Amino acid sequence: MGSSGKLRLGVNIDHVATVRNARGGDYPDPVRAAKMAESAGADGITAHLREDRRHISDRDIDRLMDALEVPLNFEMAATPEMQQIALRHKPHAVCIVPEKREERTTEGGLEVAREENKLAHFIAPLREAGSRVSIFIAADSRQIEAAARIGAEVIELHTGAYCDAHAEGRLKDRDREFQSLREMSVYAQSLGLEVHAGHGLTFDTVKPVAAFPEVMELNIGHFLISEAIFMGLEPAIQRMRALMDEARDSEIRSAG
Ligand code: PXP
Repeated sequence: MGSSGKLRLGVNIDHVATVRNARGGDYPDPVRAAKMAESAGADGITAHLREDRRHISDRDIDRLMDALEVPLNFEMAATPEMQQIALRHKPHAVCIVPEKREERTTEGGLEVAREENKLAHFIAPLREAGSRVSIFIAADSRQIEAAARIGAEVIELHTGAYCDAHAEGRLKDRDREFQSLREMSVYAQSLGLEVHAGHGLTFDTVKPVAAFPEVMELNIGHFLISEAIFMGLEPAIQRMRALMDEARDSEIRSAG
């Protein structure tokens, strides 16, 4: 992953399952959405099996593992139950995220620096099983250094604060958050980490982040599933892909 230099798009299909679970039936089917995302140009599929199973279910993960041709990025909290599930499936990638039952979404990054020993032990068997381990963190040098020390290969930078500030018109905050993402992408790469980013990205906010040459993958879900209501899932993914490519191409041109 990432060796070609092309920016990868991971499509998160959690919220297809959210809509399905609103009625408790079988549709819309997140696996069907994942297959459609594949044909629209997604380089990977991301799914978060939450402890409370509020969207993705265990059966969805079984079916995704069977059906996907692109890699699955399995998002999970650092709990023994999730570790067992990941070890059973051995997905291409495991992204460790913080999880609180009361939150609406993954609100912050993982506190790696304070839990270094515990997390180092937690991820070791996942790496031995062949999964690439990614740690979802804020753009904070302490967390990045800790992620490198525990042996993670990848960090995913949380873009939520940047996107929220943009959406709320807090432009100074947005620019500050953006600057941190910029600097921390460079710093993480200098420590040998592969850099991914995601959370809250939209057509309006994706390009500046996609232009970072250090970022190898963006994971995007809620906005794409929302836009799918209006324009369809494949066109929404294709448009996101095109914006990412435009940002990347203009960055390469300006660097050259
Ligand atoms: N990356 C991680 C680690 C996440 O937890 C999420 C949300 O599940 C995303 C990316 C995608 O965020 P969004 O759904 O806001 O695009």
